[in-house]
Amino acid sequence: MARPKKHAILVIHGPNLGLLGQREPEVYGRVTLPEINDELRSLAKEHKVKVEIVQSNHEGEIVDTIGKSKDTFDAILINPAAYTHTSVAIRDALLACGLPCVEVHLSNIYAREQFRHNSLIAPVAKGQISGFGKQSYALGLLAIINLLDSARK
Ligand code: DQA
Repeated sequence: MARPKKHAILVIHGPNLGLLGQREPEVYGRVTLPEINDELRSLAKEHKVKVEIVQSNHEGEIVDTIGKSKDTFDAILINPAAYTHTSVAIRDALLACGLPCVEVHLSNIYAREQFRHNSLIAPVAKGQISGFGKQSYALGLLAIINLLDSARK
């Protein structure tokens, strides 16, 4: 029997996440983005899925990346960072591409300032994981793999 095609997952890190490790360590911890990415790549390898990882500080660039994702990827894992709370454009791009998406946050956005309590992305995502530090990404990736595996059955 032919082996099923590997799931391909696009991981998007939004603005300022490239500064993890130095940025507000009391909120985000000391973990760096390359460390998070290494963990995602090894988890992906373990589960036999492909991941492509991008980071951008620019809303339009994130919109373009999502817009081109439909034919190449099966799902999106996104930490939209500050754009979570402001970006109708990223929300619309996710809706337009139609891929299942999981939203993640290192910090618990509901335990922080009022303006972070609203996510424009959450209503168009399959779900949201918030508050588990770097583990939020691993949990998000596992949630996507689960979703894709269940859709295949
Ligand atoms: C964040 C939470 C956002 O409110 C904030 O703007 C970020 C990071 C998180 O991962 O906890 O940049 O998305």
